[in-house]
Amino acid sequence: MKRLLLPLLFAVALPAGAVEDTRQFVQMPAPAQAVLRAEMVDMLVVLHDAGSEFATIAKTGDAAKALAALPKLTGQCVSCHTAYRTR
Ligand code: HEC
Repeated sequence: MKRLLLPLLFAVALPAGAVEDTRQFVQMPAPAQAVLRAEMVDMLVVLHDAGSEFATIAKTGDAAKALAALPKLTGQCVSCHTAYRTR
């Protein structure tokens, strides 16, 4: 079992670690970074609101409408997070 587990662990861990970070680095002073972080926490609240809007649509059982509302949930978050980093 141990002999199987180790190579398996490497197979899972290595490719993930080898992925190149292509996000653009944005250098900002510590206070600005703190403000950004606070804004991001607010974003999480926005996400909960959008989540409940999505849940309301999903509850109607209209799959097409629900699918259309899905990208609204995390689309902007994902596109910005995949483009930029601050550290
Ligand atoms: C305009 C760009 C932008 C958008 C849009 C955006 N973010 Fe961020 N977010 C950032 C950046 C830049 C960071 C810092 C990432 C880093 O340096 O690792 C960040 C970090 C975060 C963090 C980590 C904060 C911490 O404690 O370190 C959370 C949580 C987060 N974002 C949530 C969200 C959510 C949820 C949304 C969408 C509702 C969102 N963000 C949309 C730019 C954005």
